Amino acid sequence: MGVRLPRKELFEIPPGVIYLDGNSLGVLPKGAAARAAQVIEQDWGQELIRAWNSAGWMDLPRVVGDRIAALIGAPAGSVATGDTLSIKVYQALDAALKMRPDRRVILSDSGNFPTDLYMAQGLIGTIGKGHDLRTPDPDAVEAAITEDVAVVMLTHVDYRTGRLHDMARITRAAHAAGAMMIWDLAHSAGAMDLDIAGSGAEFAVGCTYKYLNGGPGAPAFIYARPDLVDGIDPALAGWLGHAAPFAMEPAYRPAMSTERLRVGTPPVLQLAVLQEALRVWEGVDMADLRAASQRLGDLFIAEVESRCPALTLASPRDADRRGSQVSFAFENGYAAMQALIDRGVIGDFRAPDIMRFGFTPLYLDEGDVIAAAETLQDVLETAAWQDPKYQARGRVT
Ligand SMILES: Cc1ncc(COP(=O)(O)O)c(C=O)c1O
Repeated sequence: MGVRLPRKELFEIPPGVIYLDGNSLGVLPKGAAARAAQVIEQDWGQELIRAWNSAGWMDLPRVVGDRIAALIGAPAGSVATGDTLSIKVYQALDAALKMRPDRRVILSDSGNFPTDLYMAQGLIGTIGKGHDLRTPDPDAVEAAITEDVAVVMLTHVDYRTGRLHDMARITRAAHAAGAMMIWDLAHSAGAMDLDIAGSGAEFAVGCTYKYLNGGPGAPAFIYARPDLVDGIDPALAGWLGHAAPFAMEPAYRPAMSTERLRVGTPPVLQLAVLQEALRVWEGVDMADLRAASQRLGDLFIAEVESRCPALTLASPRDADRRGSQVSFAFENGYAAMQALIDRGVIGDFRAPDIMRFGFTPLYLDEGDVIAAAETLQDVLETAAWQDPKYQARGRVT
């Protein structure tokens, strides 16, 4: 048994806000702001360049990676942090393709997050060997794993619908066909119990600004299966992935272990904030977290379906087939979400018509879920969303 959930006292939640968008940007953990101030004022302000050694800045990517490894079911030393998730997708994909030089197919799915597909398209152009990116319907992926597939690259939880792929099963199918497997855990890390090592997948990548509460622009992570890491030929051969960065050798020699997946100077401020943010996971049993998330999601579906008949469930009803978000389709979903946000219930919207609600059991409880559904009912029954002020689209939806 882990600690009791939720742990609202560990977070700065603005009064009057019910935050259902931790699947997009997690809330601020208490202590993170003080840590940022300490790094700026003391480490940077006073120690200056000495802090690279004295404050352990250079080790932060590994230290933070080890903490994330524990949350995704990976061994210590197998996760590197830094850069953005787009870059980590590129690194993993390039490494995987180099390990299957005779094959030309990248298999993903049509529901994958655009940047994952764009990075694949860009890499295909850079490699220039005529690789093919296939994107079948998510339900048809398994059947599409044929013997010409070099790598299966999937996002575990669909960002629009919350649909969850069966990690163990698809990884097995990929391996049976001789393909490599890459999982994007953007919507899974910190949302559920994961066993990435047990799945046997070669690579996993993810971001830390969602369920891991690392803050806007927080660094990404990449996992490489320990038995393969020393065979990776890095696409982005940066100096901090070199075996001896400060030897300043003219030719690249990759570092041993996941250090070779580092690229350049680590984002120290963001890593320090993330390190502090990860303290909220101390004592949390990820299976308890998953059970709580499923309960909250089920409750929200029941409440919204009984109160808001205009909305159509766009997520799997079966909690075992769903990540930690629930989506509803509504043709005026954008405006309805703006009206909801104006009333303190924060979710978000994804085109064309999806209202997304994330469930983060670290800082949400049943009372929040019921209050959010009541507010949504009010927005719809009063047609509050028709107010012109809710129609104008911001740059970020
Ligand atoms: C599955 C997935 N991949 C990638 C990204 C974004 O990548 P980046 O952090 O490089 O912007 C997101 C952002 O929400 C995502 O959901």
